[in-house]
Amino acid sequence: LTQTPLQKFPALQANIGFALLAFVGACWVVPKVGESFVNKGLKGRDLLKRGGRVSGPWVPECLGLPCASLYLALMMLFIPFPFSHLFKSQYPLGGPDSFPQRELTLYLSSLLSLLTATLLGFIDDLFDIRWRHKLPIPIVAAVPTLLVYYSVGGVTSVVLPKGVSGWLNTLGLGNGSWIDGNVVDLGPIYYIYLVLLPTFTTNSINILAGINGVEVLQALIIALSVAFNDLLFLPIWAESILTMLGVNKPQEGRMLEWAIGEVVDRHLMSLYFMAPLIGICLGFLWHNWYPARAFPGDTFCYFTGMAFGAVAIQGHFSKTLILFFIPQIFNFILSCPQLFGLVECPRHRLPSFDEATGLLNPSRVIFEKRPPKRTAIVLEILSFLRLVRLERSDLDAPSVSAASSPEVEDSKASGAKKQHIKSSTNLTIINFLLVHFGPTREDKLCALVGAVQVLCSVLAFGIRYGVGSWFYGG
Ligand code: UD1
Ligand code: MG
Repeated sequence: LTQTPLQKFPALQANIGFALLAFVGACWVVPKVGESFVNKGLKGRDLLKRGGRVSGPWVPECLGLPCASLYLALMMLFIPFPFSHLFKSQYPLGGPDSFPQRELTLYLSSLLSLLTATLLGFIDDLFDIRWRHKLPIPIVAAVPTLLVYYSVGGVTSVVLPKGVSGWLNTLGLGNGSWIDGNVVDLGPIYYIYLVLLPTFTTNSINILAGINGVEVLQALIIALSVAFNDLLFLPIWAESILTMLGVNKPQEGRMLEWAIGEVVDRHLMSLYFMAPLIGICLGFLWHNWYPARAFPGDTFCYFTGMAFGAVAIQGHFSKTLILFFIPQIFNFILSCPQLFGLVECPRHRLPSFDEATGLLNPSRVIFEKRPPKRTAIVLEILSFLRLVRLERSDLDAPSVSAASSPEVEDSKASGAKKQHIKSSTNLTIINFLLVHFGPTREDKLCALVGAVQVLCSVLAFGIRYGVGSWFYGG
């Protein structure tokens, strides 16, 4: 008798119910509490509307807080469901040891990390805390999750691409205690990577921001991608989906372990967290979509980012999760010169609004003076890669103060025109898209970022399951 996945995993039915509750709850709660948030001063001007910074419309800010609270409340109420089959028989059946403490601990430590992240986000919304202060907090929040990871015998090894392991073998490094065939045990280094993962997932969503809907849309697409990936691991679907993708051939005998036991449990747990998150994101997007009637605030970015980090660590698929963050990785790398002070970083890097047309253009960082050489070199490289658009000034242009400058003397002597960088578009993926596809309207730009995120998720699945052996092992 074939069972459908919902019959086989009864908690999934409840979980889908909780996801619907999350959706309806988020739709309902946001307008209900919006005014109270405004009254408490939790509001921000919608900068990309007429009037902008000066007289743009006020929008309640930090509404990630009721969403996170609703999500946490639902996840707490959901705790008994994955264990409900145990309640049917007279407990304790086989003694208290028969209770799956491991799963319960995984679940509770994830909730603890989520609570900490929500608190951090809320504090950031209230006090705009500095980078150097907010960076270590997700690290602290990740400690309980990591200890639980360790206690359940968490893997610290990665599978090397075949070429690399062959190369290590020729160097004579292939037979150490930390390397076995093409599997390398990274030990403590792997834990450092896991500690940094929630720091990255939380902050990277927060800096891909600034236009209506974009924080929520990216979180929604990542949550859908994680949930889809989890579904691939449920035994009943796994086989047919993998056959469809043409990747069900056992890889070195390991594919057979794919859909059994622990792996399924881990992905089920991840699904339990993702389905209500999808509901929350959809419900909130309803209010945050252009023209926004509510802003998510940092609370939303931190709690969703932590949810992804926690499920990926607990589910042992942190490398797969990283693949779903390709646009955020791109945005982070592009932002590095501004984040680390090489190029000036204004408080807001969101696009600039053209009052005449109502369209968005890339925003610019203006250099009053000639920028230092290393800044200029970095910007020239980024411009060569078509990642920014520069505006240059001509030093040959007659100017009283510049007339006697050595550069002008040089350029006159060589007959070449020497220019310096006057301004550059801000280093974000949103401005990069505007450089190539702008000027455009705010909602279209948000949809474009969403389309990029979806395409990157498709690419991620291609890499994960197409070039499977590279990343096999989670
Ligand atoms: C991050 C970005 C910043 C960006 C800001 C926008 C970095 C290092 N920081 O800062 O460049 O400008 O997010 O969220 O990349 N706002 C809008 N429309 C929106 C969303 C926000 O106008 O759709 C404005 C509102 O005035 C709102 C404010 O941005 O009050 C919220 O900014 P906040 O989330 O506090 O900024 P950061 O996360 O510090
Ligand atoms: Mg923010």
